[in-house]
Amino acid sequence: MRIVTKIIAAVVAVGGVGVAVLAGHQIAQREVGAPDAFLTKVANRVIGAPDTDTTVALTDQTLSSALLNIDMTVFPVETERTLLSPLQQSGGGLTSFGDDVILLPYAGQVYAADGVNPARATQIVAPSNGRAEYEALKQDPDYADYQIVPGYIRYNDIEHIVTDQGQAFVASYTEYDAENVCYTNTLARLDFPQDVTSVDDITAGPDDWDIIFRTAPCLAPKSRYFAIEGHLASGRLAYDPESQTLYLSSGDFHLDGMRSDTAPIAQDPVAQYGKILAMNPDGSDARIVSMGHRNVQGVVRAPDGRIFAAEHGPQGGDEVNLISEGNNYGWPTESYGISYSSTPIPGSASYGRHDTFSRPIHSWVPSVATSGLTAIDGFDPSWDGDLLVASLIDNALFRLRLVGEEVIYQERINIGTRLRDVHQHTDGSIAIWTDSGEFVFLTAQPLPDRAFTVERFIERRELSASLAGPFETEMSNCAQCHSFLPDQHENAPSLARVFDNDIASSSFDGYSDALKAREGSWDKETLVEFLLDPQAFAPGTQMPGLEDPEIADLVADYLWRLDRTF
Ligand code: HEC
Repeated sequence: MRIVTKIIAAVVAVGGVGVAVLAGHQIAQREVGAPDAFLTKVANRVIGAPDTDTTVALTDQTLSSALLNIDMTVFPVETERTLLSPLQQSGGGLTSFGDDVILLPYAGQVYAADGVNPARATQIVAPSNGRAEYEALKQDPDYADYQIVPGYIRYNDIEHIVTDQGQAFVASYTEYDAENVCYTNTLARLDFPQDVTSVDDITAGPDDWDIIFRTAPCLAPKSRYFAIEGHLASGRLAYDPESQTLYLSSGDFHLDGMRSDTAPIAQDPVAQYGKILAMNPDGSDARIVSMGHRNVQGVVRAPDGRIFAAEHGPQGGDEVNLISEGNNYGWPTESYGISYSSTPIPGSASYGRHDTFSRPIHSWVPSVATSGLTAIDGFDPSWDGDLLVASLIDNALFRLRLVGEEVIYQERINIGTRLRDVHQHTDGSIAIWTDSGEFVFLTAQPLPDRAFTVERFIERRELSASLAGPFETEMSNCAQCHSFLPDQHENAPSLARVFDNDIASSSFDGYSDALKAREGSWDKETLVEFLLDPQAFAPGTQMPGLEDPEIADLVADYLWRLDRTF
């Protein structure tokens, strides 16, 4: 009986994030060796989530979105995957340096990718985070009742910073202190000379970094649920080069009064958890910027200087917050979400409402499990100023159209696997790090010309081959001089909006005097007349004619069709 209880505890605890069931399921399976089907049943009964691993390998493709097509190129990374469930070994963040996007994944080896060549391991390894020592705690009889989950002590983010003193990488990770049996969110800095322009010129081992900051207090492992809930560490970085301020999100590690015996740490005005912190680039003068956060998985400094944060809610209530100094965002006293047991959050001021504390500018109900976010500038003009939020369970990017402080709409762009971080590279492309171990690069492409195509016209009209051939040839002749897109007149007026319009009335500035002198508008009769004998219609015109009246008829019909498609 005791065994079963333990399994359920494990499943419920990870099950909170839905897809993480597999992690709980497999840990349990290993511990008790119970049959697969039995555990699947337990998992499904307890949280009703599918027992599937949604980390799926991606392939290169073109994604379509409302305003753009997006070319997606995938670069797999061979990272450490020794545990049973890949979900336990996930996490990590991205930054840009030189031509590369730099990745610090959960296990500490730093990688780089430029969006063209295969991703590569760099000569940089992050400082030790005490993970092995933490996992050894399992052997300690004093901690026999604690759920020590391997992989939850992990690296969360990396940021390239430039200061008056030089440049550096800052790594963010959860650090286990074996001597004092406690853990912190820790920042370490790797300085390198100003004239270095490629990550390939940097070699650094774990001891080459300077630890510049540790959150306070150092937290003791807890006996409820998992001992250290490193998946709620947050640990995301953003840097404001103008004020030279480093921002760190520090999660509440599930010390929320539900999964802990302690009071919610996010509402403790002093403890540096459930907070967004700001500090100097050397880690000094750290201060609490905002409180009442649960698990901020994305922080970004937008080009206009504003700080946005994307935050995991409980069941429902994932948030994007505009961060202002001194604000309290309410967790766990207020949330648009509810507890994992589908009841009001114990001790909360309201049920699924957000009336008292600083309200998010956007929220997801049900949860999509938000992860990284980035502020778009220079990917494509149609996206400038938008926020892009990655999601884990929803396997998608969300583009939020931001006007002032308001989100006007969201567009979901399916990627197809769990997305851990999203980052806009210095060349404008968008880089993603996935839980299936891939660097993904996105570049903007114009939407295909969906104007009524000649092929579609031939199909609709069911033209015989003897007509279709010459008609197609004639239409491609027109395209030598004319565009079929509105308002594009290079050598000749656009043919997109001709039908029913006045003759020679577009913004094309090269009309002949003869054509300009013609009264009336284009209809089938005038078009056919013009096409069959342009010189008679407008003496001296540059426009060549065509011979076959039947083809002229089809061309005129096509121009009518085209006009109606815009
Ligand atoms: C060699 C270049 C060339 C080709 C090929 C050509 N055109 Fe033109 N077309 C012109 C020019 C130049 C004008 C402007 C004529 C003028 O102002 O006298 C024009 C004008 C027109 C106009 C009048 C548009 C308006 O704004 O009033 C129509 C309609 C037209 N062309 C249709 C066609 C079609 C249909 C084809 C193919 C069957 C075709 N053209 C092939 C150069 C070309």
